[in-house]
Amino acid sequence: MKIVVIGGTGLIGTKVVNQLRQAGHQVIAASPATGINTLTGEGLAEAMKETDIVIDLANSPSFEDKAVMEFFQTAGHNLLAAEINAGVKHHVALSIVGVDIMQNIGYMRAKKVQEELIEQSGVPYTIVRSTQFLEFIAGIANQATDGNEVHLSDVLFQPIASDDVAKFVAKYALAAPLNGRVEIAGPERFEMYKIVERYLQLANDPRTVVPNGKPAYFGGEVTHSALVPAGEAEQGAINFESWWATQAVKA
Ligand SMILES: NC(=O)c1ccc[n+]([C@@H]2O[C@H](COP(=O)([O-])OP(=O)(O)OC[C@H]3O[C@@H](n4cnc5c(N)ncnc54)[C@H](OP(=O)(O)O)[C@@H]3O)[C@@H](O)[C@H]2O)c1
Repeated sequence: MKIVVIGGTGLIGTKVVNQLRQAGHQVIAASPATGINTLTGEGLAEAMKETDIVIDLANSPSFEDKAVMEFFQTAGHNLLAAEINAGVKHHVALSIVGVDIMQNIGYMRAKKVQEELIEQSGVPYTIVRSTQFLEFIAGIANQATDGNEVHLSDVLFQPIASDDVAKFVAKYALAAPLNGRVEIAGPERFEMYKIVERYLQLANDPRTVVPNGKPAYFGGEVTHSALVPAGEAEQGAINFESWWATQAVKA
């Protein structure tokens, strides 16, 4: 099958592209770096020709509220229009667990708009909602850092390894469109400050984690369980400690 992976050069995109190529598919890793840009439309029509499946794993270069909304709105609109023209049979996108109940956060509003454009497009689709990637823990720590302290709450957190995310995305892309959503998550649930504390300890990072009791994510207030699946979710196989062991080997 011919498969176009938008954001095919990113963290998850690279892994999905490799897996699908290994399975024998013709895969285009699409991104501005490879001449395919969903914001400007550059290279889109050509890439879509005779494409069976499109997997959208792109992310906005800026997480600022207005910029991220413009990114997912414009990119989603251009991409789905090109897919309709080319008769694409399955659109798969990676979204976020809890996106509906975190609409006070700009990034989540933009991801929800991305989902709605897909649902209203008429292109058969599957939306995979994931929890945060284990690779994102460093970013969460940095964003909550004040001097030598990292201020975080005890919100529940169920991170998933990017390798597991890529496996699930590839699996759902090759299956029949669900015309609905599925949720994926890591195999363990933590309080956020505790897992960040463990991460910093293993990384020999001198920062101290200070639990602050203020449930927040990306600067917005969230409920205690907003970031974890409320119902059924498929669970990845890689837990925190085994993921960390592979990071240490890479380093
Ligand atoms: N981080 C999390 O914990 C989490 C949780 C759930 C879901 N997600 C979702 O997972 C998805 C993938 O995240 P990621 O961390 O793998 O992303 P990433 O590593 O930041 O990669 C982003 C990709 O998007 C591409 N891109 C940027 N602008 C583009 C444009 N105008 N046209 C086409 N491609 C463009 C980039 O291409 P260049 O390299 O050429 O710039 C890159 O390949 C995102 O949609 C995110 O919302 C993330």
